[in-house]
Amino acid sequence: MTDHILTTTNEQILTITINRPDKKNALTRAMYASLAEAINRANDDSGVRVLLLTGSGDSFTSGNDIMDFLQQPPSDESSPVSHFLKAIATAQKCLVAAVNGLAIGVGTTMLLHCDLVYAAASARLQLPFVNLGVVPEAGSTYLLPRLMGHQRAAELLLLGEPFSAAKGQEVGIINEVVADEALFDHAWGVAQKLAAKPPAALRLTKGLMKENGRFTLEAIHRESTHFRDRLQSPEAIEAFTAFMQRRPPNFSQFS
Ligand code: COA
Repeated sequence: MTDHILTTTNEQILTITINRPDKKNALTRAMYASLAEAINRANDDSGVRVLLLTGSGDSFTSGNDIMDFLQQPPSDESSPVSHFLKAIATAQKCLVAAVNGLAIGVGTTMLLHCDLVYAAASARLQLPFVNLGVVPEAGSTYLLPRLMGHQRAAELLLLGEPFSAAKGQEVGIINEVVADEALFDHAWGVAQKLAAKPPAALRLTKGLMKENGRFTLEAIHRESTHFRDRLQSPEAIEAFTAFMQRRPPNFSQFS
């Protein structure tokens, strides 16, 4: 378990904190592996009734580590990111998210697999996959249009611009926007309420709501295949290189 993912259990609530603030909590392979392990372990741990996911510093997570995309891209479905996406999509215990700041890429798409999502008023979300020359992941091409309709999903996925927590609530990704300083306590209070409920009834209800989960897993699989191909594409290489060089990307030479 990398120290970039912190886990603590209190009052039967497992708090998972993404903790790499100097890199805006960008997720490396090791971090995905730790996240997957923590979520999977909770399925069989009777001492855990609820999971609370948050980030340290000013970010929830700025998404996949772009250096990792260039240096150790995922090669198949045995990669840590695939394990993480499967773990969060099939988690049996309730997942509460406290989105404390930037939630970019998988930082936003992982919220689609949480049950209750609270965000700080200053949080900023973004789905910049197309801008990076790749395709969306985590089943978001399946889940987002169903959540908010094609046009609103297209705005978020095709334009890929940052949007506010208030907009996230309007389109249904976020349950409630909370003052920054009150966020963690608010999410903790909700997690406490869930932890006090009859656990089997809670698990069954979540399972019933996820009855169509195989369609989500199929979408994750479909997207992953394209995603891995796209990582090697000249468009993506240009986008990642531009990010590392702190310059705007130039896609004018591509057809
Ligand atoms: N992967 C790797 N490193 C990242 C990162 C990411 N996704 N997001 C931020 N970082 C790093 C920066 O390279 C920088 O590192 P450095 O201090 O060693 O130079 C550090 O985190 C701070 O980021 P910086 O860009 O200086 O902060 P900012 O406040 O100006 O901007 C972001 C923050 C998140 C808006 C900007 O870093 C960004 O756009 N990141 C990429 C987000 C992204 O596209 N994610 C992939 C989604 S699939």
